[in-house]
Amino acid sequence: MKVSVLGLGYIGLPTAAMLALGGHEVAGFDVSPRVRAGLRRGAEHVADLEVRKLAVDALATGRLTVADAIDRADAYIICVPTPNAADGRPDLTYVHDATAAIAPMLRKGNLVILESTVPPGTMDRVVAGALRERGVSPDDVLLAHCPERVIPGAIVRELKENSRIMGGRTPEAARAAKDLYASFVQADMFETDCTTAELVKVIENTFRDVNIALANELALLCEELGIDAWEAISLANKHPRVNILQPGPGVGGHCIPIDPHFLADANPFLTELIQTARRVNARMPNHVVRRIRELVPEAEGGTKIALLGASYKANVDDSRESPTERIDELLREHGYETAIYDPVASGFKRPLAPTLESALERADALVLVVDHDAFRPIDPAAVAKSMRGRIMIDARNLFDPVRWERAGFEVHTLGRRSDAKQRPSQMGERQKRVTAGMS
Ligand SMILES: NC(=O)c1ccc[n+]([C@@H]2O[C@H](COP(=O)([O-])OP(=O)(O)OC[C@H]3O[C@@H](n4cnc5c(N)ncnc54)[C@H](O)[C@@H]3O)[C@@H](O)[C@H]2O)c1
Repeated sequence: MKVSVLGLGYIGLPTAAMLALGGHEVAGFDVSPRVRAGLRRGAEHVADLEVRKLAVDALATGRLTVADAIDRADAYIICVPTPNAADGRPDLTYVHDATAAIAPMLRKGNLVILESTVPPGTMDRVVAGALRERGVSPDDVLLAHCPERVIPGAIVRELKENSRIMGGRTPEAARAAKDLYASFVQADMFETDCTTAELVKVIENTFRDVNIALANELALLCEELGIDAWEAISLANKHPRVNILQPGPGVGGHCIPIDPHFLADANPFLTELIQTARRVNARMPNHVVRRIRELVPEAEGGTKIALLGASYKANVDDSRESPTERIDELLREHGYETAIYDPVASGFKRPLAPTLESALERADALVLVVDHDAFRPIDPAAVAKSMRGRIMIDARNLFDPVRWERAGFEVHTLGRRSDAKQRPSQMGERQKRVTAGMS
């Protein structure tokens, strides 16, 4: 089959490559000249090395090509961004514009698939609407929504192994989409209508947002009650039907902080829980900053905070909607000097420190925001030599508090009472037991 993939980002590129390796003739098109040029130079702009290799392998077959304009095809797959607009409402202009761009190419019976995550009703309102505006009857083509469920960091494996929802505007469209994806998806593919598929995808990310909000609320409560939230959640999860996620400094990325708004926007009155969860998670960077300000009051200029981690979560380069961005912004609004070190992140809005040492230089406190594996081996004794202060705040419960305390640090962990001075050894030992039990 001849396939045209629009949008060659985190999702579109590996999907295009998989289809090409699965035997289809795939023309990938991205509006960004930077992306097209990067792909032609061996996908050098792609930070995920597995995805880069997948793309290089697919390009080498000759069945994946990078196009400078949309090619005529049998099937079109749209993988464009779906951010929130400044007013918090879904911005579906990318979806609209991509659909409008393929409209002149369409012939009767072509398959048009939207992979981007969208609010329920988008296929009918925006996709079918954009086709009608361009004089194409949506009934003349097969329209399907096939949302993506991969986790950044394991995209290549999950593209093959995750089950998928094939939402067709007609049963025939769902079946046609399933046939196309069968070239690389090894798991179950469930056929349904496209509005249900839209809702299912958004429910999945909303479920995670609400669960994380519960963990975050418990963390705040535990700090007040003097209980270790990490221990309490770990013990609660020993229940066979309880699985609370981990607290943290906020929720980032292009999916979880955005998608719940798609439901809230559908009906603000019926989505109180979803909106509250979003607010709880959105306020976590403020809580981290509040704790920093209690521990390191800003002096007359020159108080410096070193932040570890800029991406939105561990071991991925994506820094869209990253909690670090908000923490950094708030700290600087309060007059702190900041330096951010992250050997993994790309695309962060401010320049990052080139080395850990340069970030730590003259720092009064160190705050771990992202639990990258690359941070695990950091030696607190070496950190102590570079820093001015001796405060370490761990917002992800990554570091062993006993080691840091031994190196002379006052250790504070999100979700745990800040009483390191009162019972350091007990806290450290207890923390070690809980962490060992969780691994
Ligand atoms: N990143 C993830 O882990 C993930 C997971 C599941 C679902 N999704 C969803 O997939 C969609 C895409 O996300 P992403 O992370 O791949 O975004 P991305 O920003 O990495 O990639 C989107 C690409 O589309 C290009 N683009 C924009 N308009 C275009 C057009 N009209 N024609 C051709 N190219 C165009 C952009 O230049 C960009 O390179 C979003 O709806 C997102 O919510 C993402």
